[in-house]
Amino acid sequence: MYEFVSGPLVWISFIVFIGGSIYRLVSMFKLADKEKVIFPYMSLKYSLRSLIHWIIPFASTNMRRRPFMTIITFAFHICLVLTPIFLLSHNLLWYQSWKISWWTMPERTADIMTIIVIFTAIFFLIRRLVLPEVRFVTFLSDYALLTVAVAPFITGFLAYHQWLPYKTMLILHIISGEIMLIAIPFTRLSHMLYFVFTRAYMGSEFGAVRNSKDW
Ligand code: HEM
Ligand code: HEM
Repeated sequence: MYEFVSGPLVWISFIVFIGGSIYRLVSMFKLADKEKVIFPYMSLKYSLRSLIHWIIPFASTNMRRRPFMTIITFAFHICLVLTPIFLLSHNLLWYQSWKISWWTMPERTADIMTIIVIFTAIFFLIRRLVLPEVRFVTFLSDYALLTVAVAPFITGFLAYHQWLPYKTMLILHIISGEIMLIAIPFTRLSHMLYFVFTRAYMGSEFGAVRNSKDW
């Protein structure tokens, strides 16, 4: 079992993740090209202006209006993206397989960032359950996506600390990481791929067409 999930399944999940992401982006470009009003309106200046505003915490009015949610959303995403990339255990696997390696974060930092992802995800869950205006627009798929996003962190943490049977947790961890990678291009987790383009379009439409701001 371990050999299968840590061998062929890793290959399959990375191929589906990268191939699927390219496919989704190419499809998006083709669709946008058909709509004659999209590309002619795109402006590099207004795209960058909007993107910069939306990746800086508290730069937009909406973020300032919900400061707690802003901190939680940024903390969740920063830890979610950076931890797996700069994790020592993951780096060692890249080195073993491909003889490539890069900077790794101290293991304590990785632990703290993992805990941040787990707690911020619990916050998202409670928010969806408790706030009527959020519950109203929440579907089963929202809980499923949150689970897919947080599962590699819970199982990775448990495997690393060996609080539960190590081999089982490790296998569960690898499977949950693979599910996340495969899910990114084909579920709403694809917002990771589209964010730059939707923001760029909104920025261009507001900046170049309406002469206003979109933040
Ligand atoms: C695709 C296949 C993956 C493999 C083969 C893999 C492998 C591993 C291994 C071997 C460990 C260390 C366990 C130990 O110390 O014994 C680990 C830990 C961890 N992994 Fe993965 N992983 C994968 C995907 C992911 C993904 C997609 C994420 C998150 C997005 C992730 C997040 C973590 C975290 C947060 C830890 C523990 C950090 C800590 O508390 O120190 N992994 N992984
Ligand atoms: C790296 C580029 C990414 C950007 C710019 C981004 C941006 C966003 C934004 C703007 C939101 C809405 C937050 C709010 O309501 O205030 C969001 C929500 C979310 N993102 Fe991302 N995201 C990225 C990557 C990811 C990845 C890689 C995952 C997981 C694999 C992920 C999982 C989630 C989840 C689960 C939510 C919903 C939380 C909830 O239940 O309310 N994101 N993201």
